[in-house]
Amino acid sequence: MSIKEELNIDKLPKHISIIMDGNGRWAKQQGKLRVFGHENGTKSVREITEACAELGIENLTLYASSTENWKRPKLEVQTLMRLLISSLKNEIKTLQENNIKLNTIGNTTDLPKKVQRELFDVIEQTKNNTRMTLNLALSYGSRDELLNTIKQISIKVKNNIISHEKIDESVINEHLYTRNLPDVDLLIRTSGEQRIINFLLWQIAYAELFFTDILWPDFTKNHLYEAILCYQNRERRFGKTSEQLK
Ligand code: FPP
Repeated sequence: MSIKEELNIDKLPKHISIIMDGNGRWAKQQGKLRVFGHENGTKSVREITEACAELGIENLTLYASSTENWKRPKLEVQTLMRLLISSLKNEIKTLQENNIKLNTIGNTTDLPKKVQRELFDVIEQTKNNTRMTLNLALSYGSRDELLNTIKQISIKVKNNIISHEKIDESVINEHLYTRNLPDVDLLIRTSGEQRIINFLLWQIAYAELFFTDILWPDFTKNHLYEAILCYQNRERRFGKTSEQLK
């Protein structure tokens, strides 16, 4: 039986998020520049997006760049932006054919205008697609998102739009970049690092974490199935005891 056939289709995570790490090390192993790693990383983005849609995963969030990534060498930042534009141009047809909606989370106003235009265009064209939402975290930072949320809610309290007694988890959820998404069920990080690096801190409160040594450009559909199988074999207790769940 293949690993894909072992998956329980009735117990799929509704929201998978991935910290795609290891592009630079992958390139170094081949004696190439870091940008070569990012170019090959885009192939994994395509393969994993397709695999998630095929399986019936409803939401996939990929950490494509953080608020700190702007500090990387200029050539690397430029390459990431170029890859983003070319991927958006090349993949719009596949997104449409597969009924996938594109969305972004993060400070997209930090991105070059050309990237913003391309993103806006693809988001607009795919907005009515319903099979899966692909969220790209771009210039994203979780603390930045939480700060932003607190500021927005404070302004509403000050202007009597909302009373402070009414602030609960759902109010916070509605003000996050991820407002239309369910909590993350499964967070995957590639490349052997076991850190969360300021990614979806609020949204991963009850997520199962899966770390693998595979570098992102080597991460294939089968690695994804392995991660989902591992998730399905865990007991998610949400603070309760095993007995209570039965
Ligand atoms: C981490 O590897 C990867 C990134 C910072 C960027 C991920 C970007 C892509 C896969 C390409 C473009 C994305 C899209 C959505 C088209 P790293 O550079 O931190 O690797 P290292 O830890 O080995 O140095």
